Amino acid sequence: PLEEGWAPVRTRKFQGFWIPEPVLPGIMDMQQNFKARPDDLFVLSYPKSGTTWLKALTYAIMTRTQYPFDHHPLLGQNPHDCVPFMDRTYAKGQASELDAMPSPRILNTHLPYPLLPDSIKSLCCKVIYVCRDPKDVLVSRWYFSNRMRLQSMEPIPFTKAFEMFCEGSCPYGSVWEHVLEYWEESQRRPEKVLFLKYEEILEDPLRSVLRLAEFMGCPFSPEEEKEGVVEEVIKLCSFDKLKSLEVNKTGKLHPDFPLTNDSYFRKGEAGDWRNHMSPEMARKLDRITEQKLEGSGLTLGGVA
Ligand code: A3P
Repeated sequence: PLEEGWAPVRTRKFQGFWIPEPVLPGIMDMQQNFKARPDDLFVLSYPKSGTTWLKALTYAIMTRTQYPFDHHPLLGQNPHDCVPFMDRTYAKGQASELDAMPSPRILNTHLPYPLLPDSIKSLCCKVIYVCRDPKDVLVSRWYFSNRMRLQSMEPIPFTKAFEMFCEGSCPYGSVWEHVLEYWEESQRRPEKVLFLKYEEILEDPLRSVLRLAEFMGCPFSPEEEKEGVVEEVIKLCSFDKLKSLEVNKTGKLHPDFPLTNDSYFRKGEAGDWRNHMSPEMARKLDRITEQKLEGSGLTLGGVA
């Protein structure tokens, strides 16, 4: 079935999930042909949950001894250029670019857990998943979708986006199913799946970066900690820093979309939903979150 859906992206149901039509052939190709390497690291997320930030952080952590912080690739490249979005790479027929990357690679997809290529699951690669209060995901996504639309398209009203989000009929499916699958996997295999919350990284970036480095197998040495390397990583990847860079103010990742790199850096806060939805809408979303996550031990969002 085809869903007119969340402007401007049409979605198609594939193996039980709504997948954006433009990347679907790429995803089918990727499922069959992608060969993970044992030392690959995957940055996974539901769209608008903090992917760009996590890409920057993992990349900065991994390459911290390779580049000085004042001449770092992240100063001249968007984080999405440093950590490829596999769905789009495959959709563009450029999978060979991933093969050409030296190990260890950091790669990203928005696929729900059940749809991941078998080699990612069976090789037991490390996965870092970031999630976020669904209310902020919705707001962030609504802005992003309207930025992405072609001039000829009508903007999507927030109420329409809200309805579709609640029903789970938006690109990459229901946020709750997405998060839950990865949460459960992180409980089963904590050494392989690190589950992070956007709000926790915002609240305590130091602890989050230390945790990330530990999980990635490249913990900070006592000397590095003393020399302030952790703080350098945080500063390099901070919202204000990345947003202020020329490449992120004016650069363009996708020549085929009316989308500039600044679309990935909007507000970078927790709780912007308060400026966009009524208390009833917020309560409704929180109620759905509670119901969907009931019994899982995971909580998300709240305070509506
Ligand atoms: P907002 O639209 O609420 O500002 P994704 O990267 O998954 O597409 O998520 C985008 C969201 O993460 C946007 O949220 C964006 O502003 C925020 N973001 C991007 N880089 C960030 C950073 N370095 N620190 C904090 N938030 C960041």
